[in-house]
Amino acid sequence: MRTVLITGGTGSLGSATIRGLVRYPGWHVVVTGRDLARTTERAEVLSADLGTPVTPVELDLESLDAVRTFTREWPARELPPLHALVCNAGTMVVSGLRHTADGHEVTFAINHLAHFLLANLLRQHLTEPARIVFVSSDTHDPARRHGFPAPRYTSGHELARPADTGGDPMEAGRRQYTASKLCAVLTAYQMDRVFGADQRISVNAFDPGMMPGTGLARDYNPFFRFAWKYLMPALTVLPRNFHTTRTSGAALAHLIADPALDGVSGKYFQGRRPSRSSAESYDPDRAAELWRSSAELVGMPELAETP
Ligand SMILES: NC(=O)c1ccc[n+]([C@@H]2O[C@H](COP(=O)([O-])OP(=O)(O)OC[C@H]3O[C@@H](n4cnc5c(N)ncnc54)[C@H](OP(=O)(O)O)[C@@H]3O)[C@@H](O)[C@H]2O)c1
Repeated sequence: MRTVLITGGTGSLGSATIRGLVRYPGWHVVVTGRDLARTTERAEVLSADLGTPVTPVELDLESLDAVRTFTREWPARELPPLHALVCNAGTMVVSGLRHTADGHEVTFAINHLAHFLLANLLRQHLTEPARIVFVSSDTHDPARRHGFPAPRYTSGHELARPADTGGDPMEAGRRQYTASKLCAVLTAYQMDRVFGADQRISVNAFDPGMMPGTGLARDYNPFFRFAWKYLMPALTVLPRNFHTTRTSGAALAHLIADPALDGVSGKYFQGRRPSRSSAESYDPDRAAELWRSSAELVGMPELAETP
């Protein structure tokens, strides 16, 4: 048995990924969620449906302290060896600028900073060969047609504490989301350089494609939420980057577990297909700057020394 840890496993893509993993026997799944009762209920349903062990763990990614406690307590859980981490939990706050108790803008904090800290702290508990996947989105790439504003990357510190310009909160929130998804790709590439040098840890980024109907639109207005949930799923029949969670979950399970991808690292996948990420995501200086500022923001300045 090998363990895979999936953050946000209670959500749409997370649950679909666990279902997709059934094709690959021998995995013990650990899912994290903010609410232990809800996470336990979801884990029990998945476990009973699939015959796969699914362990629920409470983890609120809004809190860096919660991430530290979670990783400190990891060995005491006595699970099968940890071979994979999937940084899947995500949010998109569009109703106005909000900060976590740590003082960071909430979308950037959950989507990027918490996962940056989690992956770096769990590194010591990974058993090689291991895989880490950062869930990104093609909305990070302004060259693709998706209707989202382009990320505006200045520095990790500015993304953590963006100025409130008094503009449209929806536009600002969506831009912060696309920036956080650019950070997922930059981090995957940089982590591949840092971890990959002397260890057998593969790190990749993944775009599940647009999956209408998931919980990601929960902060939008009721009209959009209705369209997202009931109308837009019809678009998954089109030959565009729209997919059901089932298709994308199966693709993510493939990235986690398929032996065909042994040793494949530092790549961006759209579904099962290796693809080009945005031009900006290949800038090594930007990736190094994000790594350094993220290390400072999560209180691990020693990480900033790594190349
Ligand atoms: N849906 C799309 O079209 C799309 C497209 C590209 C990329 N993605 C990415 O796919 C990933 C999964 O999204 P989804 O569409 O499946 O949305 P979802 O159903 O809302 O799932 C998101 C998951 O993240 C968790 N989460 C949110 N805030 C959290 C926090 N503070 N602490 C811990 N967990 C938290 C949620 O837990 P709770 O249930 O407790 O809120 C939920 O399990 C995200 O990274 C998203 O950016 C989605």
